[in-house]
Amino acid sequence: MQDKNHRIINYLRLSVTDRCNLRCIYCMPEEGIRFMPHSEILTYEEMLHLVRLCVQRGIRKVRVTGGEPLVRKGFAGFLERLCRIEGLKEVALTTNGVLLKRYAGDIRKCGICRINVSLDSLRPERFFQITGRDCFQQVWEGIEEAERVGFDPIKINVVAMKGMNDDEILDFADLARKRPYHIRFIELMPVGQNGWNPETFISTDEIYRQLLSLGNLAPVHSHPYDGPAKRFKMDGSRGEIGLIGALSHHFCSACNRLRLTAEGNLRGCLFSDEETDLKTPLREGQGDEAILKLIEWTIRNKPKDHGLLTQGPRKCVREMHSIGG
Ligand code: GTP
Ligand code: 5AD
Ligand code: SF4
Repeated sequence: MQDKNHRIINYLRLSVTDRCNLRCIYCMPEEGIRFMPHSEILTYEEMLHLVRLCVQRGIRKVRVTGGEPLVRKGFAGFLERLCRIEGLKEVALTTNGVLLKRYAGDIRKCGICRINVSLDSLRPERFFQITGRDCFQQVWEGIEEAERVGFDPIKINVVAMKGMNDDEILDFADLARKRPYHIRFIELMPVGQNGWNPETFISTDEIYRQLLSLGNLAPVHSHPYDGPAKRFKMDGSRGEIGLIGALSHHFCSACNRLRLTAEGNLRGCLFSDEETDLKTPLREGQGDEAILKLIEWTIRNKPKDHGLLTQGPRKCVREMHSIGG
């Protein structure tokens, strides 16, 4: 289905939980986070029902996000059922990798082959500084296990922060040379109360310039359901480089996504707090036709853009861990 700005909406980001086993500095403060009570979170059954309705209105790809999806009980069984939904062409997963070693095989068996793992540093101590947990080795072993069981592609998300991990840009690029991973550098976005400030911001243009010191970067064409990354291949590398210019490069005009939060609110835009409550009508038993109308309304009224460039670094109220990126 198309929105009123003629964009085809075919991609749903589904957050299955707002909880997480890490505390990344740009996402979850160590204290003062209010998690949603379990009774407010959609059951897996409810999620599957809403995804089926979204598929009836044109969704073809679902990316499962969190918080951290693997911390929710029974997740592998849910994924298996999600993958069987008729009409869905692709199911993918974004994870922080902490529990990946244990679950990679099960996830792969569900038929998922695309996985994105967050990893902001290749140095264990720095990983601890950024995430608040001493889990570098676990994540690294998770990535290796994902490779072993045949995930392809394995995308590694690196949120780039000046003075924090920008001295590792070339180390990450070297990883893409040696391993078949897609290393994606992401601009830090102002979400919730995450303390975003211009001093820590580093643009993808700046990263691109640094990468050029390693040689030619040949552009790679994107897959139709692909997200906002601009893709490149370095000469002689097994993997790829991706640049996600979330702030500096306006990709809203090509945005094909909706988001469903763990408590059942449908969002048209990452940065807009306008949400449509689907859980209440679902739990009141209002019937599929009523819910389909709400989905249609949300698609049609998807915000035109995030407004950050015109209105300044506006912040949305919700924290990132409860939206899923
Ligand atoms: P695929 O293209 O399906 O691989 O997914 P993706 O790259 O969009 O997903 P992933 O969950 O790995 O997110 C990568 C980064 O892109 C994260 O920082 C997300 O917050 C960001 N992102 C994803 N979708 C959007 C969007 O619609 N707008 C903005 N500004 N950022 C987004
Ligand atoms: N800016 C950019 N990326 C973010 N992520 C989480 N919070 C932010 C932010 N403020 C990334 C995570 C994960 C993905 C889903 O979103 O690192 O890889
Ligand atoms: Fe957890 Fe992802 Fe947020 Fe880090 S960015 S705290 S891994 S939800």
